[in-house]
Amino acid sequence: MTIQGILIGLGCVVVLSSAARVKKFPSYVEKCHQSDVEFSTCILKAIQLVKPHLKTGIPEFRLPKMDPLVLPEVGIDAGAGFIAKFENVEIYDADKFVIRRFDINLDQNKIKFDLTFPHIRIKAHYSIFGKVLFFNLDGSGPADGNITDCRVIATVNGERYFNQDKQHMKLSEIVIEDMNFGNPNFHFYELFRNNPELTEQTNRILNANMEELLNDLRPTVEQTIGKTVLEFIGRVFARFSIEELFPK
Ligand SMILES: *[C@@H]1O[C@H](CO)[C@@H](O)[C@H](O)[C@H]1NC(C)=O
Repeated sequence: MTIQGILIGLGCVVVLSSAARVKKFPSYVEKCHQSDVEFSTCILKAIQLVKPHLKTGIPEFRLPKMDPLVLPEVGIDAGAGFIAKFENVEIYDADKFVIRRFDINLDQNKIKFDLTFPHIRIKAHYSIFGKVLFFNLDGSGPADGNITDCRVIATVNGERYFNQDKQHMKLSEIVIEDMNFGNPNFHFYELFRNNPELTEQTNRILNANMEELLNDLRPTVEQTIGKTVLEFIGRVFARFSIEELFPK
């Protein structure tokens, strides 16, 4: 084989391997440059442009459709013999968040955000067993809930790693600094299968105490929301290197 042949051969390999790695950025987003003095403002603007596309999913970011967001199972074990399980959880309108802050600090590998979900609807199949307030519950059926003005303030901590010589940020943990459930209203159908009246009554009392109940379940709810947010943002950072996301 001649030198020329080898060079052409090498050229092909390089072209092929780089073609396989071409990753398209969504055409409607402009990249924010690290050197931009208005870096945070630029990120906020970019998120606003991305937002309308979250509903159906963003293939370039490997993001699945977000309306509804589907979680196969959310388990709650609040101790003291109280166990709840939510299956096939469908979360509607989570893509219609209002964003007040989304600061990405690349030097510290930290993201701080402040998001409000004006209205979220949740549908699931629940099973509840144990003592709640003064009820001994042992029921399962469809659950339907609305939450308004749910605010989440959190910090995501990341770390750098290399993938094919490019630096990426792995989002390793999320620390929820503040979470407000706003105004929750839930309905648990068939709580007492043969007693619709008691079911209605119990639902009324549960809802009257929902904020307090959710507070008791706070660790699980925070963990679930935290994991979901991490998974979403994490996909973008896994797919693109720091340099590809935020050119110098
Ligand atoms: C949630 O809101 C929808 C409409 O916005 C309503 O039809 C449904 O009954 C509500 N569910 C509960 C449990 O309040």
